[in-house]
Order: sequence, then C-alpha cells, then structure tokens
Amino acid sequence: MSRPIGVFDSGLGGLTVLKSLVQSFPSENFIYLGDTARLPYGSKSPKTIYNYLYQNINYLRKFDIKGAIVACNSASSVLRPEEFKDLPVVGVIEAGTKAALNATQNKRIGVIGTRATIGFGAYQDLLKQLDDQIEIFAQACPLFVPLVEEGLTHDPLTNLICFRYLKNLVDQQIDTLILGCTHYPLLKPAMARVLGPNIQMIDSADAIAELVGEGWSLSRQTGEGSVQVLCTDTTDHFKQMAGLILDTIKIDEFEKVDL
Ligand code: DGL
Repeated sequence: MSRPIGVFDSGLGGLTVLKSLVQSFPSENFIYLGDTARLPYGSKSPKTIYNYLYQNINYLRKFDIKGAIVACNSASSVLRPEEFKDLPVVGVIEAGTKAALNATQNKRIGVIGTRATIGFGAYQDLLKQLDDQIEIFAQACPLFVPLVEEGLTHDPLTNLICFRYLKNLVDQQIDTLILGCTHYPLLKPAMARVLGPNIQMIDSADAIAELVGEGWSLSRQTGEGSVQVLCTDTTDHFKQMAGLILDTIKIDEFEKVDL
C-alpha cells in the first residue's frame, strides 16, 4: 500500500480540499484530520494557530505520510514549510494566489477569509510580491465558518450575511475573488447571488490538487485508494456533514483521536 497523504483543517472546511484531491488522485490513500475540538482557528492568535499546526502535522506523521497538506488558510498563513525538513508540506495560500493571478483581467482582486487569515496578510503579501500592479481588497468574514459548520449553506440568513460582507467588494469592481478559507466553497451558490456573473471565485481546493499533483508526482490513475477521517472531537453532526460534503466519496474509517 502506498504511503498516505495527510490533510488537515480545523473542521469541515478542509473536506472541500480532500474531495478535490480524492477526485484527482483516486488511487492514493488519504488521512484527514479535523481538529474539531479546537475549532475555530480563525479567531485565534498567530502563536496559538502555529502551535496547532505543528501538533497536527506531528500527529499525522505517525502514519508515515508522504506529505502533508494544510487545508486551512488560517494555519497556512503561519506555515513555514522549510521547518519540516524531510516532509513535504504545502499550504493553500500559494495555490490560491497563483490561480487568482492567472484569472484576473483587470488586476483588481478581492480576498475573503477568517479574521486571522486577513489580519496576518499572507495573501496580500504574496499577491503584491508576485505582481505589484495588483489592487487588493480584503475582507474578513467571521460569520461564514459558523454558518457552514451549522449546515446553513442555503438559508435566507446566509444570503443576508453574504450581502453584508461582499457588497463592498463588488462596488470596488473586482473581477476575481479568492475564497481564502476552505469552508467558503460551500457557500458558493449564496455568494454568487451577490457577486453576479462577472466575478470569478477562486477555490484553493482545485488549485492545490494541481500543485501537489505535479510537485509530488501523484498518480491520477483510477483505483481504490482509502479515505480515513479523524477528528479531535466527534459529534453525530460532524459525521453527517462530512458525509454530505464528501458526497459519493466513501469514508473507509472514521475515528475520534487525541493528539
Ligand atoms: N477552514 C479554515 C480556513 O481555511 C478556518 C476555519 C476556522 O476558523 O477554524 O481558514
């Protein structure tokens, strides 16, 4: 059996990344860790998020993973991959930034994320570093993660909150919006109502699959890879939501773990 790939997030959001990875590399084995006991990350300080990131990766290493994907923007904002030396580790920020730069025509890019991700400025810094002509409009959307965790992805309340957060970005005439939190792709239909047809949403899930596919020489062959989902605090609600998000992807093993 080939060595698994570790993926983690604070909760359900990273499952959007896992889904894209399993669809792109069906014969690979995946271990997903949802750190549900400590969710949300997005309201915490860089130091705390940094500690969580290291604990999670060190925990996943026990499974002899061949690489780790930080499917959480808040944690990717404080990631320093070179500190893991012998283990390839990638975060979602680089992939999302490059995809946004490829997509924009008018060089006006919006970035939304948790308070942590927007506050740490990792997207803003990397966008400017790669293209100093880019105009960036950043907006923290702290109410989005609880809406997703509660399963309120299609709800009048969600539509209202999307309008509240996104209206200013639309007024700034952005043509590209980076969904800088892995929970947000689950709100795409609600966000599209506010954004209209001319603003593209950049979802780092697909971008990261492209990035690791090449970098880690993953197999795209069809096959029966395994999917193991671990979480630090399990509830029936999490299990049910995970099943809904992963849809046709079968979870081979579901387990509560202590880090
Ligand atoms: N999904 C995580 C991210 O991409 C954050 C959710 C949280 O606040 O824990 O930033």
